[in-house]
Amino acid sequence: MKLGERLAALGAFVPQGARLADIGTDHGYLPIELIQKKIAISAVAGDIHKGPYQAAKDNIESLGLEEKISVRFGNGLAVLSPGEVDTVVIAGMGGSTIIEILKSQPEVTSSVTRLILQPMIAAVAVRSWLTANKWCIVDEALVQDEGRLYEIIVAEQGVSPEFESIMYDIGMILWKKKPKLLGLHLDHLIAQTERVLREMANSDSAQQSSKFDEYTKRLEQLEAKRQCL
Ligand SMILES: C[S@@+](CC[C@H](N)C(=O)[O-])C[C@H]1O[C@@H](n2cnc3c(N)ncnc32)[C@H](O)[C@@H]1O
Repeated sequence: MKLGERLAALGAFVPQGARLADIGTDHGYLPIELIQKKIAISAVAGDIHKGPYQAAKDNIESLGLEEKISVRFGNGLAVLSPGEVDTVVIAGMGGSTIIEILKSQPEVTSSVTRLILQPMIAAVAVRSWLTANKWCIVDEALVQDEGRLYEIIVAEQGVSPEFESIMYDIGMILWKKKPKLLGLHLDHLIAQTERVLREMANSDSAQQSSKFDEYTKRLEQLEAKRQCL
C-alpha cells in the first residue's frame, strides 16, 4: 500500500519506536503503514463512526495486524488510558474538533509526548490553543495532495516562546523554514481574509465592528509578510 502525500508527510513526523494512536483513523492506512515499516511498535486506531471503525478493523484484520494495532470505537482520546501511547495523530478534521478532542481528556493529553495535527480549517485556533496550554510547536509542514494544500503542526510538551500574532495564522515554524509552498499558503490566507472583508463590507454594522478592524489589520500583516518572501 502506498500512502498519499498527506498521510506520508504525517507519518514522517512519527518517531522511531513510537507507541502511536491515530484518532479519527477512518481506513486505518496510517497505523498500518507505520507498523508495517516498523516505525511504530504498537498502535491504537480510533474512530467515532461505525463505518470508518469497521473499515479500519477489516483492513487491519485482513493484513493480520490485529496483535499490533488495536482498533477502538469511541470519541477522541476517550479510547485511550493515560500513558498508553506517546504519539498521537489527529488529522483530517476541523481545528475546533481537534481542540475539543485534546481538551476533553486532559489526563490522556498530558501523558502524551508528541502531537501530530492536521487541521482542515482553523489552524490558527489550534496553534493558539497549543501554545496557551503548555505545548510547544516544534515543527510544521505544508503538503500539497491532489491539488489541495494542507498544514501539519507538530507539538511537544513545553513552554512556548511568544510570537507576533500573525505567526499563529502563518505558522511560526513555517515562517522560519520557508518551505517552497509558503508563498501559496500566504496567498490562500490573503484570499480568505479578503473574502471575509468583502462579505463584511455588505453590512454597515459588520463594517463598524472590531472584527472588521481585526481582519483589515490581519490582511495588512499578511501582505507585508508576502512581500518579504
Ligand atoms: C476526514 S476523516 C480523516 C481520516 C484520516 N485521519 C485522514 O487524515 O486521512 C475524519 C475521520 O475522523 C473521524 N472522527 C471525527 N470526529 C471524531 C472524534 N471526535 N473522535 C474520533 N474520530 C472522529 C470520522 O469518523 C472520520 O473517520
